[in-house]
Amino acid sequence: MWHYYNPVRVEFGVGIFDDLDKLINNRRYGLVTYPEPFFASLCDQLQSRAGAPVVLINDVQANPDYRLLAQQIDRIAEDEAPDVWVSLGGGSVIDTVKVFAAANGDFDNVRKYLETGSGANQLSATPIIAVPTTAGTGSEVTCWATVWDEVSGIKYSLARQNLYPEVALIDPILMCGKPQALTISTGLDALSHALESLWNVNANPVSAAHAISAAREVMDVLPRLANDLQNVELRSAMAQASLNAGLAFSNTKTAIAHSLSYPITLKYNVQHGIACSFSLPIVIESVIGIGGLCEASLNAIFDGDLPTAAKKVSHLLHSLGVSTSPADHGVENAAWEALVEGAFDGERGRNFIGNKDNFLKAAEALGAAAA
Ligand SMILES: NC(=O)c1ccc[n+]([C@@H]2O[C@H](COP(=O)([O-])OP(=O)(O)OC[C@H]3O[C@@H](n4cnc5c(N)ncnc54)[C@H](O)[C@@H]3O)[C@@H](O)[C@H]2O)c1
Ligand SMILES: [Fe+2]
Repeated sequence: MWHYYNPVRVEFGVGIFDDLDKLINNRRYGLVTYPEPFFASLCDQLQSRAGAPVVLINDVQANPDYRLLAQQIDRIAEDEAPDVWVSLGGGSVIDTVKVFAAANGDFDNVRKYLETGSGANQLSATPIIAVPTTAGTGSEVTCWATVWDEVSGIKYSLARQNLYPEVALIDPILMCGKPQALTISTGLDALSHALESLWNVNANPVSAAHAISAAREVMDVLPRLANDLQNVELRSAMAQASLNAGLAFSNTKTAIAHSLSYPITLKYNVQHGIACSFSLPIVIESVIGIGGLCEASLNAIFDGDLPTAAKKVSHLLHSLGVSTSPADHGVENAAWEALVEGAFDGERGRNFIGNKDNFLKAAEALGAAAA
């Protein structure tokens, strides 16, 4: 028995950003984005068609953090409440908007829910139109937001069924200005989502079909896109791959590679997409022989040649300038085992269908870390 569910309406196309006002449909909207000039000009374009937003938050930083979220929500409370939130940016903007949509005017509502699991009845669920400008997180089709508390060094997940965006409006043109490093890190995040949805207790045939398509596409397209950043066709292919990866892990959540990544991002400041992908060869090697839907799907991705799959992904990562050695991401051998231990105990680690012994053996076999 299995089930698959995703309620997000997807609008995809080159130039479709011009239709955003139709989706807002005369509702009072709040607009959320980053501080950079490119995003200010997109906001201007939108305002010329949809009128002014009732709230504008344009200081989103990477990895939404407690402190800034609380300040932003205080600012929002001074304005008229919007009927719909529009996020114009990557995962950090989409996740920020999910927090705004849930906060009901007070960040403490979200804080309490994240820290105690109680107070769900105090949370709101304002509709969201997500306009991703990166191809990676898939947050436009998931119902959770990653929230960071840098001060206490903890990463939380705000997960609520009513936080699925109403619409994901995906325009590959908006992604053409992404620099090479961001294109690579976000693209690898998508690859990680696809693979993580497969070695996952929650995998099902529909999530697996999305994951196979996404993983094959990222591995084919990303190396070419990394050297041809303005190519709209390749941007479109990556945006579709990222969407498919999102549709896959929207039903499974992530697993061990993401569980490992969170402390690496928090302690060593490694970008999310790099932190959650450098260990993929180890995970692949560790699940060979596991059978079932996972192995069948990996066979479909790697054309039936699983023994060389870890090497292929290592080669892909190296060709994109990403080291597969934990030490190169700040994790010395002495810290590695404790990190792996913690990752297996973490919520996402418990989604992983493999085991720690095989993982450590695979790491040793690949020369990624001393046993
Ligand atoms: N909710 C989910 O399902 C989910 C899934 C994966 C990751 N995440 C979270 O998403 C965050 C990462 O998001 P991200 O990787 O999309 O990056 P991001 O939103 O953190 O943005 C990083 C930088 O990219 C720049 N940028 C974004 N789009 C651009 C464009 N089109 N052109 C030029 N510059 C651009 C921004 O200015 C920003 O400084 C992390 O906090 C991660 O934990 C959430
Ligand atoms: Fe991710």
